[in-house]
Amino acid sequence: MKDQQPTGDPTRLPRHIAVVMDGNGRWAKDRRMPRTAGHRAGINAVRTLIETCGHRGIRALTLFAFSSENWRRPQQEVSTLLDLMLRTMRKEASRLHENNVRIRIIGDRDRLGATLCRQIERVEELTVDNTGLHLVVAVSYGGRWDMTQACRRLAARVEEGSLHADEIDEGMLDDALELSDLPGPDLLIRTGGECRLSNFLLWQLAYAELYFTDVLWPDFREPDLDRALVWFAGRERRFGGVDVALSTAESA
Ligand code: FPP
Repeated sequence: MKDQQPTGDPTRLPRHIAVVMDGNGRWAKDRRMPRTAGHRAGINAVRTLIETCGHRGIRALTLFAFSSENWRRPQQEVSTLLDLMLRTMRKEASRLHENNVRIRIIGDRDRLGATLCRQIERVEELTVDNTGLHLVVAVSYGGRWDMTQACRRLAARVEEGSLHADEIDEGMLDDALELSDLPGPDLLIRTGGECRLSNFLLWQLAYAELYFTDVLWPDFREPDLDRALVWFAGRERRFGGVDVALSTAESA
């Protein structure tokens, strides 16, 4: 990853990509395998995506690995998913570090076990000074949880008297949320055919381009990412304004 030059057109590349990795269960069902086999296969797709993003010169990648709502799944599936994350972090941390990847985990750590929390702290500490791809993994994360904890932080400051309620603006709320140090995702990719956000980064995705594909997550490979990037490069992003070329032509 480190040795390769970015191959994308930097003026048309998303700086930050967010991904909802959906379809692991259906991938496994199609093969008459248990759902957990789908999650294991999904790890290979994660590895490929991280490498490809490095090759393409993407600055940040945020993966939705386990949502606040995923706690409702059968206990055995929850344990397998969390165990898979622990093992993957242990196995891949040094290789990612060698490739200059900075790793960060977002989400409600109070619900994760002590072993997983310790491993998270270890990989975050190991890679904190890396300057390559910024990899964020959302674990026990929900957009509503994120907004709630941001409100609590600001409310605590109001309560202690260091902040007046009238002073709270969008920037301040933005700073209290997860990912405040990164530009919001420019592109959201969701695999598995569903067209919804499922409580992912609700605030941060306000102006993201939304790309949905029927490809099931374990099958998602380099050409699939390239298709999304080509689609993104063709999007006209107005951020609530008007297209400059169009408005100039109309007023002439
Ligand atoms: C959704 O598929 C996928 C998940 C809930 C888990 C995704 C997690 C991984 C691929 C592991 C990531 C690990 C790291 C370390 C980044 P689903 O089970 O909802 O599939 P279905 O919609 O077909 O049932």
